Amino acid sequence: MKIVLVAGARPNFMKVAPILAALHARRQTRPDLCVLLVHTGQHYDQAMSQDFFDDLRIPPPDINLCAGSGSHAEQTSKVMVAFEKVCDAEKPDWVIVVGDVNSTMACAITAKKMGIRVAHVEAGLRSRDMSMPEEINRLCTDCLSDLLFTTDTIACENLKREGVPEEKIHMVGNTMIDTVVRCLERARSLPLPSGLENGRFAVLTLHRPSNVDNHETLADILGAVSTISERIPIVFPAHPRTAANLAQNGYSNGSHLQVTKPFSYLPFLGLVSRSRMVLTDSGGIQEETTFLGIPCLTLRSNTERPVTCQVGTNILVGTDPARIREVALSVLNGFRRRSSVPDKWDGHSAERIADTLVQ
Ligand code: UD1
Repeated sequence: MKIVLVAGARPNFMKVAPILAALHARRQTRPDLCVLLVHTGQHYDQAMSQDFFDDLRIPPPDINLCAGSGSHAEQTSKVMVAFEKVCDAEKPDWVIVVGDVNSTMACAITAKKMGIRVAHVEAGLRSRDMSMPEEINRLCTDCLSDLLFTTDTIACENLKREGVPEEKIHMVGNTMIDTVVRCLERARSLPLPSGLENGRFAVLTLHRPSNVDNHETLADILGAVSTISERIPIVFPAHPRTAANLAQNGYSNGSHLQVTKPFSYLPFLGLVSRSRMVLTDSGGIQEETTFLGIPCLTLRSNTERPVTCQVGTNILVGTDPARIREVALSVLNGFRRRSSVPDKWDGHSAERIADTLVQ
């Protein structure tokens, strides 16, 4: 049985790490199991890719497609053309894709058209916002997949409503949380950046095109953040897309707002886990903060991860500066929601995936 596991962009690496480890472990009882890791090269900077491989102890990919950046069509097509050659040469029985980035959809379409079975990890998430490229990637990938591994029951319900047969859907929990569980101790043993004290700083991340490519929205968010930074220091590790927009618009460090280069996985987890609150437009960080019990303000009007609002620490605040300030200040003044961790976010999701696949 040959499995190709695909990773392409930063949020994929923490999801593939435990799956790869679990599949490798199954080789003791299934010596016929062959697993190849394919990196599409969607993310390629040291800080966006190799640093994550190092922190997460992921072995070097067996194949790198070196697709790189481009418009959506360019990037997707470059991945597809290169991945078709890999599938042709390797003839895998299964292709596993994770998440919702362009590489996820590109490899799912390529494999399915070649008659190869596709498993999607993190299936069924829906923002119902078709202006998000990731929503298009999720819909396309899910409707092609033969096995759909979900993180929660809301995702299972979404898939059933869309007509996916129940036997294809497996609620396994969250592989991103497997990685948090595995790495938390190492992450928390790293020193905090100088000047920061445990529980006395906030973290900001922004990279959604709808937030950072639109000058007015970016200015609104940063205006609110600047007011909040008068109460608490804020660390802002900036994605390359965001950094370019900040530079173009003449933004620089404020006295309590530290814009930094992207952090790799362990320092970032160490930072978030010791922060007072997080402001973000990321998907994965909504889940990590729910698991860690850290208040999260999501700077978007919707989320594909509603479970983090229903049972976790996440509050959707949108991008209205008055609302961002109001909610942030109420958190700083002690407002705290009762929260819990969703079912099966227990560090064993990748093992459930590996068991289902090898059975
Ligand atoms: C992608 C994903 C998004 C995910 C995000 C995490 C899609 C549609 N989007 O968005 O879902 O949340 O990754 O980071 O797949 N760049 C670099 N170095 C790199 C990679 C990118 O400088 O290593 C710059 C390039 O200018 C590139 C831009 O960032 O054009 C955007 O990269 P891209 O991979 O297209 O999308 P992201 O915004 O990173």
